[in-house]
Amino acid sequence: MKALVYLGPAEKALQERPKPQIAAPSDAIVKITKTTICGTDLHILKGDVATCKPGRILGHEGVGIIDQAGPAVTAFKPGDRVLISCVTACGKCDYCRKQMYSHCTTGGWILGNTIDGTQAEFVRIPYADTSLYPIPSGADEEALVMLSDILPTGFECGVLNGKVQPGNTVAIVGSGPIGLAALLTAQFYSPAEIIMIDLDDNRLEVAKRFGATAVINSADGKAVETLMKMTAGRGVDTAIEAVGIPATFELCQEIVAPGGVIANIGVHGKKVDLHLEQLWDRNISITTRLVDTVTIPMLFKTVGSHKIDPKLLITHRFKLDKILDAYETFAHAAGSKALKVIIEA
Ligand SMILES: NC(=O)c1ccc[n+]([C@@H]2O[C@H](COP(=O)([O-])OP(=O)(O)OC[C@H]3O[C@@H](n4cnc5c(N)ncnc54)[C@H](O)[C@@H]3O)[C@@H](O)[C@H]2O)c1
Ligand SMILES: [Zn+2]
Ligand SMILES: [Zn+2]
Repeated sequence: MKALVYLGPAEKALQERPKPQIAAPSDAIVKITKTTICGTDLHILKGDVATCKPGRILGHEGVGIIDQAGPAVTAFKPGDRVLISCVTACGKCDYCRKQMYSHCTTGGWILGNTIDGTQAEFVRIPYADTSLYPIPSGADEEALVMLSDILPTGFECGVLNGKVQPGNTVAIVGSGPIGLAALLTAQFYSPAEIIMIDLDDNRLEVAKRFGATAVINSADGKAVETLMKMTAGRGVDTAIEAVGIPATFELCQEIVAPGGVIANIGVHGKKVDLHLEQLWDRNISITTRLVDTVTIPMLFKTVGSHKIDPKLLITHRFKLDKILDAYETFAHAAGSKALKVIIEA
C-alpha cells in the first residue's frame, strides 16, 4: 500500500509499505477513505516530537471502512464506516476509567507517533471497540474528519480547560485549524468577546467569518497594547494558546486578567519562560492537556444538528498519491490560504 513515511527531521516520502495485519484480538484494520494533515505532523517534521522515530507512517486523523476486525472486536464488523480517534483507548486502565484516554497506559496518542498512522491506504487500530466511532449512514464524512482531533482538541484543551463562560472575554492566540476549532466551540458558551490573534491576515479574516468579535495581527509586536486597549486595560478571562512557540505562550501571560485562565493547546518543542514574578499575585491558573477525545460523541451530535459546521475548515483536497503537494500546501498556509486539507485514499 502507499503511505507517507517520516524519515527524520525535514524528511518525508510517499513509500510502498506492506498492508498492516491484525496483531492483537482487539485490533481492527481500517481502509482509509479520507485523512488529513495536522499542525502536529509539522512539529514532528521539525524534530519537536522525540517519540516519533524515522520510518513511521504519519497521520492520526481520518475516516474509513472496517476491512478486518480481530476476534475480540464486538462493536464493529467488516464494511462498517468508522471515525478514527487520534487517541487510542483501552477503556480499562486507570486513566481510561477517568476518561483521560490521552494517558491510556497502553494507548494514548500513539497513531502516527509510536505506531503507524492514517496517512496510508490502511491502518491498524488497536482497541478498535473503544478507539473508533460508528458513522451513521448519510453523515458528511469530510466534516467528520475534523472530529478525529481538531474539534475535540480546540474544545477540550482550549474551551473546557479555559473555563469559557457566558459573558466572558476570550483571546485565542493562533488562528490555525486548532485555534479556529476553539473559536467555533467556544461559542457553545456565549462569551461576550472572542479576540483572535495571528500573523496571517487571511486566517484572521476567516476567524471573523467564524464568529470572532475582534482580530489582532501581532506582526507589529503591539498585540498586548492593542488587546489591553480593547479590554479597557483588564485583559482576558481566558487566553488560549494555539500555536506552540515560546512567544505565544508569553503573550498569553501578558494578556490574562486577574482570576483568568491560560489554557495551553500548542505542542511545545522548546522551553518557555514562566513569569511568576508578574503572575504570582494574579490568581490565575495555567492548564495543559493532551486531547482525550472524550467529547467526540457530544461533538458528533452538534455536527448532526448543524450547531457547528466543521466543513468550513476544509480548503483543499488531494489524492493520496499527491500527499507531498498537500504537505506543501498545508505548511505554506500564508501563501496557499490553506486550513485543513482533505486527502482521499
Ligand atoms: N494539545 C493537543 O492535544 C494538541 C492536539 C493537536 C494539535 N496541537 C497543537 O496545536 C497547535 C496548533 O495547531 P494547528 O494545526 O492549528 O497549527 P498551524 O500551524 O496550522 O497554526 C498555527 C497558527 O499560529 C500562527 N502563528 C505562528 N506564529 C505566531 C505568532 N508569533 N503569533 C501569533 N500567531 C502565530 C500561524 O500563522 C498559524 O495560523 C500546534 O502546536 C499543534 O501541534 C495540540
Ligand atoms: Zn493532530
Ligand atoms: Zn487505557
